[in-house]
Amino acid sequence: MSRVLIIGASRGIGLALATEYHRAGWTVSASARTPADLEKLATLGVEPFPCDVCNLNDIAALGWRFDDQKIDVAILSAGVMGDWTETCETPSQEQFHHVMDVNVLAAMRILPMIAPLVANSSGKLAVISSHMGSLSTRESPDAWLYRASKAALNSVLLDIAHSFPSMVSVALHPGWVRTDMGGAEATLSPEQSAAGIHKTIAALSSRDNGTFYNYDGTRLSW
Ligand SMILES: NC(=O)c1ccc[n+]([C@@H]2O[C@H](COP(=O)([O-])OP(=O)(O)OC[C@H]3O[C@@H](n4cnc5c(N)ncnc54)[C@H](OP(=O)(O)O)[C@@H]3O)[C@@H](O)[C@H]2O)c1
Repeated sequence: MSRVLIIGASRGIGLALATEYHRAGWTVSASARTPADLEKLATLGVEPFPCDVCNLNDIAALGWRFDDQKIDVAILSAGVMGDWTETCETPSQEQFHHVMDVNVLAAMRILPMIAPLVANSSGKLAVISSHMGSLSTRESPDAWLYRASKAALNSVLLDIAHSFPSMVSVALHPGWVRTDMGGAEATLSPEQSAAGIHKTIAALSSRDNGTFYNYDGTRLSW
């Protein structure tokens, strides 16, 4: 049976991905931060494990927890938006660290830990990025700290793709999704986004290493 590792599955897109892959018959290892969310994941039938992506002990534990496991797909979904800004307002040091630590530094700690495990399986690794991180399609300066963090995440993903050519590494835009982050007006349910992401990852081939995809399988420009 194929195994997927999902980091950040307590709610929103990560939770929908855990449910989607479990329904499709995969063995799902999924992380959350609180005992209640870990219990919720266990009830779904997935294998929960604790991981705060800013906690060095939790990240180190990823290495030994999955050391002897074949990981076919790994998805880093945990992310934060930070305070919404309309214009180029300088963020506080605290806001900057909050958003950059979760969206970028965590990826720079976690991806080097799990990439060798995925590469051993010639598997696929995806980070849930955002089209808001695209430089070439930028049309607005709103949420510029979040945009900067997702642009940096895309850069991190590209370097992982260069470092581990035996697997396929991609950045994914999940669509505009009705979650705590996306809000009630968003166009997609978490289930629709997760189904599209599952299908998109399944269709990836070695030619896609180091690319950026929308949840519906269309290519995005960096
Ligand atoms: N929703 C959209 O329209 C949209 C669009 C583009 C990109 N995205 C991206 O999609 C991903 C998932 O977003 P979402 O919409 O599902 O957001 P969400 O509903 O706000 O969920 C955020 C998830 O990230 C986790 N997380 C935050 N900080 C964490 C930390 N320090 N350690 C571990 N987990 C942490 C949360 O865990 P807790 O429950 O423990 O806080 C939760 O599982 C994010 O990377 C986001 O940037 C979303």
